[in-house]
Amino acid sequence: PTKVSKICCIGAGYVGGPTCAVIALKCPHIQVTIVDLNKSRIDAWNTPDFKLPIYEPGLEDVVRQCRGRNLFFSTDVDKGIQEADLIFVSVNTPTKKSGVGAGFAADLKYVESATRQIAAVATSSKIVVEKSTVPCRTAESMRTILEANSKPNCRFDILSNPEFLAEGTAINDLFKPDRVLIGSLQTEEGKEACEKLKEVYANWVDPTRILTVGLWSSELTKLAANAMLAQRISSINALSAICEATGANIDEVAYSIGFDSRIGPKFLKASVGFGGSCFQKDILNLVYLSESLHLKEVAEYWRQVVEMNEYQKRRFSKRVVDTLFNTITGKNIAVLGFAFKADTGDTRESASITLIRDFLKERANVSIYDPQVPHEQIWQDLEEACGDMGIEEIKSSVTLRPTALDATQCADALVIATEWKEFREGIDWQTVYDGMNKPAFVFDGRLILGLEEAERLRRIGFKVTVIGRGNGM
Ligand code: NAD
Ligand code: UDX
Repeated sequence: PTKVSKICCIGAGYVGGPTCAVIALKCPHIQVTIVDLNKSRIDAWNTPDFKLPIYEPGLEDVVRQCRGRNLFFSTDVDKGIQEADLIFVSVNTPTKKSGVGAGFAADLKYVESATRQIAAVATSSKIVVEKSTVPCRTAESMRTILEANSKPNCRFDILSNPEFLAEGTAINDLFKPDRVLIGSLQTEEGKEACEKLKEVYANWVDPTRILTVGLWSSELTKLAANAMLAQRISSINALSAICEATGANIDEVAYSIGFDSRIGPKFLKASVGFGGSCFQKDILNLVYLSESLHLKEVAEYWRQVVEMNEYQKRRFSKRVVDTLFNTITGKNIAVLGFAFKADTGDTRESASITLIRDFLKERANVSIYDPQVPHEQIWQDLEEACGDMGIEEIKSSVTLRPTALDATQCADALVIATEWKEFREGIDWQTVYDGMNKPAFVFDGRLILGLEEAERLRRIGFKVTVIGRGNGM
């Protein structure tokens, strides 16, 4: 069988962009074209000074090496489809906002329109790869659409190849993936298509880490992996509530649990709650799938992971209000960090948004600093989150500051919502203290302050509260 020589990726977002840029880097013999309907996004990928539309450490370097060589960004979706022999569908699959399954099911309209586009314009056979995270058996619907609309002599083989990269470490995750998963129909043609995609990854990934399974297992694995990762965080966050009430220390508990080789030390950091575009969406998707299969208990089980996360966020903002003598009305709260985790400018489902909304509901004044998130993004997120408040009202209570120190000037409380390195290492606490109203409160929602660090802050004069530790710890 001929090898893949031209790849098209539909969707130039957080997944399509980095994933296919890395394929271009590692496979100089393959031409990779990433297409998107969003012109401003494509323009940003093409900017002469590499002001890329997403912030991801190491990404710019990869794009600099390949753009114009064998990596291209374009809005010409049709041409991209026609030229390619393998097409990644890497469009967004957000939670449905209305209709059947609203609030749970994945909205597949972008996957469907991309699929219809492929069927409409393809003039030769293609391997179509689901890169987006989709409900189990979506490949079947894609195949039905493709077969019903294709031209004679066009064959479509469908593969599932979910993406496991995490934002902030995407390039490293793509260079050295724990595994690459490829699902295919177990037919002669299905296995052949699978082999061709496997060859692409084998240019840099150890073949023993490239797993080939059935289509439906591959689709379900993606939802399952995210659900189990999120479940670890909700478990540790549930324990953090017990720690705060008993004098146990969640860091010590997580450290000690993690020594059990069956559990392992990673992904056990208590926090203000998980965010990001994937965890909540994918668990709700799994809940919906379980319900539609009449597996009520299974649905309930997974739903609880999301509920625990909501509880964690509520619990944290309540602790802020309680600690500030039961009222924050008219008080100044500095929120450090707006992104959903460090090393990304992404704010989707960020816990910071929920906290700020809660503070605004209590009529506090909020000043925000984040090293990466663009200001327009912050305004847009707050407007969306604070449904009943207009943007003018929001702007009268919120200010965006250029540095962490600026944000804390005249603040009554400082809240750490994202674990940016500069908050862990770069804060001059004495200067911050001098500029704050007294008593000066610090709330660490990201466990950046160890026991000794917290003690040092108390000696300066701060009242310190850390997630997963009782008051005074
Ligand atoms: P994104 O919103 O950043 O990017 C999707 C892009 O697809 C958008 O730019 C949009 O304009 C484009 N698009 C939509 N329909 C199109 C069409 N018909 N033709 C051309 N372009 C179209 O989304 P993302 O974060 O990259 O996520 C993509 C998928 O990958 C989702 O299913 C997500 O669940 C999954 N995923 C995301 C991550 C992550 O960390 N963000 C990780 C693993 C998997
Ligand atoms: C996640 C999965 O990790 C990745 O494999 C999948 O492809 C996409 O979804 P992402 O959402 O980008 O990746 O980041 P991740 O590092 O998983 O963090 C998600 C959220 O959980 C963040 O808000 C993070 O701060 C939080 N988190 C993570 C914790 O609160 N504690 C932890 O121990 C780990």
